[in-house]
Amino acid sequence: MPSAHYQPLVPRADHDQDHEHGHNNDDDERWTIETDVQSQSNGRIRYHPQLAEELPSMGGGMAASRYGRAGNSGYRRFVYIMLILLPACFLIYFVIGPQSQDSEDADGDIDPHNGIGKRRHIKLSLTTTRLTTAHYHPFHATIIASKSTHGSIRSMMGHALNESLHICSESHEDRRLYIGDKPRSAYAQLPVIYFVTPTYPRREQIPELTRLAYTLLHVPRLHWLVANDREGCDTFLDTQINGFGIPYTHMASPMPSEYRKAKPAPRGVANRRAALQWLHQHNLTNGVLYFGDDDNTYDLRLFSEIRHTQRVSMFPVGLIAEYAISGPVVREGKVVAFLDSWVAGRRWPVDMAGFAVSLSYMAQYPNVNMPYKPGYEEDLFLRSIGLHIDQIEPRGNNCTEILVWHTQTKNKKSAVVRLESRYMDERSNLGALFRLLERMGVARASEHEGPVATISKNGKSKSHAYFLS
Ligand code: UGA
Ligand code: MN
Repeated sequence: MPSAHYQPLVPRADHDQDHEHGHNNDDDERWTIETDVQSQSNGRIRYHPQLAEELPSMGGGMAASRYGRAGNSGYRRFVYIMLILLPACFLIYFVIGPQSQDSEDADGDIDPHNGIGKRRHIKLSLTTTRLTTAHYHPFHATIIASKSTHGSIRSMMGHALNESLHICSESHEDRRLYIGDKPRSAYAQLPVIYFVTPTYPRREQIPELTRLAYTLLHVPRLHWLVANDREGCDTFLDTQINGFGIPYTHMASPMPSEYRKAKPAPRGVANRRAALQWLHQHNLTNGVLYFGDDDNTYDLRLFSEIRHTQRVSMFPVGLIAEYAISGPVVREGKVVAFLDSWVAGRRWPVDMAGFAVSLSYMAQYPNVNMPYKPGYEEDLFLRSIGLHIDQIEPRGNNCTEILVWHTQTKNKKSAVVRLESRYMDERSNLGALFRLLERMGVARASEHEGPVATISKNGKSKSHAYFLS
């Protein structure tokens, strides 16, 4: 690629000042309330056991049981209980309450300062005595070891996300000598792009991540957050990702089981929430966040376009839904509306790959969140960071270029091939080959299952024994 792609861009000053924003009266705020209720209940489901134990003592358990007894003891007693209960519920609501709702005003627009106002103050004063230290050391060279780190109670309570992080391996060292046609040191001043990739085990996982890694290898100053939707760590993936020499963090971030059965399921959400938690734990207030799924196709110009995002940049995504395109409508250098075939009440009808957020901007919103609400992840995330349409920085030559494609790979079940185990030794390559494929989740050889492997020569297939014994 031409080296021009890697030229540091001059930071854009055009959206720098703070604005006072009018509210958008077109928005359907009933819808906002529904989603907030949902995110609140989701938040509760995900509390770490340690915290869940504490919640009843703060009123949650009491509320349920007292309500249960009230029906048997007459109207007066019921009224008394309600008088006690209502303030208790009120208190709980503000202490552990909904994430995105906190900072939204009556119009659903978000005030950046509200989140650190009175309500947040209550949260912190109640939790400071319960601080736990995350036993996680961020800046070491390379670790390949499995370990768990939990967000502190402060981050669970004061921050909308409450994920417990399971870091499989990570490296903050960039082992690439050259990127493009320049030595790595030539890029030292660029802001870091935190590229968050949700991924999940399936036959296409390793090929997808391989293709993506070879794209990212061309991108300087990038930290790759690979969040895998499975319980434990995949040590094969550790080695693979580490091998590229790109700074990375590999974590296990399984979708909670209650969502896995849902149709549609919230794909990639647990993963992105974990990555957001990681960014939060590291107090990163410099650099740019981008959600890059493992199956999309990224033009290298995308990275120089998003790198100097001041608040939120947006750009078209190709191959989305019916119109095969989704993105902002731009007039005179300003985003004025959106083109996307599925609106469904979304204020921000954009794809996950269609925007980037600066971490300094995001840091102003302690209630940043991505609720488990399929189809609305982008919208609710962008609402949680108080976005206003006039703050959006259109990229890709005022949204006339396509720098990212929503490509989708056909999913198939991992293959099973019948091959006798007695031939899986070093007499041929086949044993090693199938062991590798099995580790990758692509295919496995079986003694009794699957179609018999056809092995041929000169157009004629023969018995396995013919070539392998
Ligand atoms: C579209 C959007 O582009 C996604 O950003 C959005 O998360 C998704 O819809 C959704 O809302 O369901 P799409 O191509 O339909 O994406 O979905 P996938 O590519 O299958 O999944 C999105 C990401 O989540 C991928 O990186 C995938 O690896 C990951 N994923 C998918 C999981 O981590 N777990 C799953 O069970 C499925
Ligand atoms: Mn996809």
